[in-house]
Amino acid sequence: MPRFLLLLLLLLFRPSLSEYLFKSTQIAYDQTGAVATGEALEITFAFKPWNFNLTFGDLIYVRMPRFSTSTYAQGSEGGSAGSNIAMDSVQLGPSTIWKASWTEGTWCAGCSNPYNSSLLTLQLRDVNAIVRRTLHTVTVYKSNGIKSYCGHPMNSQKIMIGTNASGTDQYMSVENSPLVGNGCQDKSSCSLHGTCDYCYNTCICDEGYGNPSTEIYDYVRIDCGERTCPAGKSIGSLPTSSTSAHPLKECSDNGICDRQVGQCACFDGWEGLSCDRRVCPNKCSGHGICASMREQSGMSNAFPLSRNVTHRGYGTRPETRNTTAWDADFMYSCVCDSSWPVGLDHGEFQAAEWHGADCSLKRCPGGDDPMTAANETDCNGKQAENSLETGKPGNGCYVECSNRGTCIYEEGIGRCKCFQGFLGEDCGTMSEFGMNFGEWFDPAWDE
Ligand SMILES: *[C@@H]1O[C@H](CO)[C@@H](O)[C@H](O)[C@H]1NC(C)=O
Ligand SMILES: *[C@@H]1O[C@H](CO)[C@@H](O)[C@H](O)[C@H]1NC(C)=O
Ligand SMILES: *[C@@H]1O[C@H](CO)[C@@H](O)[C@H](O)[C@H]1NC(C)=O
Ligand SMILES: *[C@@H]1O[C@H](CO)[C@@H](O)[C@H](O)[C@H]1NC(C)=O
Ligand SMILES: *[C@@H]1O[C@H](CO)[C@@H](O)[C@H](O)[C@H]1NC(C)=O
Ligand SMILES: *[C@@H]1O[C@H](CO)[C@@H](O)[C@H](O)[C@H]1NC(C)=O
Repeated sequence: MPRFLLLLLLLLFRPSLSEYLFKSTQIAYDQTGAVATGEALEITFAFKPWNFNLTFGDLIYVRMPRFSTSTYAQGSEGGSAGSNIAMDSVQLGPSTIWKASWTEGTWCAGCSNPYNSSLLTLQLRDVNAIVRRTLHTVTVYKSNGIKSYCGHPMNSQKIMIGTNASGTDQYMSVENSPLVGNGCQDKSSCSLHGTCDYCYNTCICDEGYGNPSTEIYDYVRIDCGERTCPAGKSIGSLPTSSTSAHPLKECSDNGICDRQVGQCACFDGWEGLSCDRRVCPNKCSGHGICASMREQSGMSNAFPLSRNVTHRGYGTRPETRNTTAWDADFMYSCVCDSSWPVGLDHGEFQAAEWHGADCSLKRCPGGDDPMTAANETDCNGKQAENSLETGKPGNGCYVECSNRGTCIYEEGIGRCKCFQGFLGEDCGTMSEFGMNFGEWFDPAWDE
């Protein structure tokens, strides 16, 4: 056999630590799994010394993290150091064969390993040796007052066993050491959607089921058995102080939470995961985009027009432009399309082609008034409607029907009805005959 194979086999079948120490190690409590946390326990150990015999005076160490004799190790997170129990003062059976001492572990407030170093030391007092590979059972009575601090949850520090009789200072974990304490068994073990707080026997639900530190919810099932819904600002909530209003609520109070799936069913007029967005009217009629106030405050073509496209802090005073109104991400409205550029700069117009709250109206053609010397379409220096800002040189005013006709909408499309004497689809042409040849301008008739 090649040498490396031999080596491999040796490695694979190398006796493991547990074969050196004990086998059939078990720990049990008088009322396994149903013990109120903080209640004194009767603890039973079983073990077989494996490759060594025990003789008079030999010691077996049982490291019992989270176990304490402290009277405060119950029901609450508060703790304190308990007391040690001197050798031969621990009440146990069979006391003809064993005696024991208890070393109380260190209490540490707020740490994850309270009483980590608690130790039960068994000593063989029988003059007869204990022969290897025989099973021994020791019961430590309730009267010693040893308790499990806040229960013994899964994945907590393991109970370890070692001995000075084995010639090694190593420990192995007790093979079968069940949980101690009620945990959350009476709360469907948190429905697999939470972790159990053994100190309080309560569930800390996972996110989506009512996690108290990451979620806002109106209702949570104590057993984490139902979903929560996304939260948003509640529009209909009264202020609770001069600086706080519109608290976060599930579905923003604009919908009903479906707790089976954790999704909001929004009332009419609201949308978004937490129903926190106003629906834009008629989906902006297909002629505009639906944008929030925050978004619009940075758009140079949103009304009222503003050339300054830095974030304006919608709803705030100019000196605190970087602050934001509470509904900046909540209120939505249409920013309508336009075949010409809209804004206050050169080449832009102070009106959009499509308008109306739902962008359903298409503006009439327009142009300069043919009867005046002034250039009505010049918006240089002209203050935009409802705005604090004015048009730059080359900025255009949109003059519908050139001021020489009325804009009439038919199914949303505006067409100029020119006054007498004016022609063209924008009424910008003067009739040679001083009158127009049709009440309505219509390109089809014109040809
Ligand atoms: C343990 O005791 C048995 C029985 O007396 C004996 O046969 C064995 O050699 C001892 N083993 C050790 C490791 O001392
Ligand atoms: C708990 O105590 C053991 C020794 O008793 C030590 O090896 C281990 O690191 C301790 N664990 C923590 C989390 O302090
Ligand atoms: C283990 O320690 C005890 C107490 O010190 C001692 O009486 C005993 O002889 C020791 N056993 C071994 C095998 O060293
Ligand atoms: C935009 O407004 C801010 C605040 O008033 C001002 O400091 C900034 O200069 C303005 N920017 C432009 C391009 O007008
Ligand atoms: C907003 O602007 C004011 C004045 O410039 C400044 O003092 C404040 O720190 C700014 N706040 C934030 C959140 O940027
Ligand atoms: C009128 O003003 C507009 C916008 O500034 C400009 O584009 C256009 O050339 C001007 N028309 C005349 C005849 O000056």
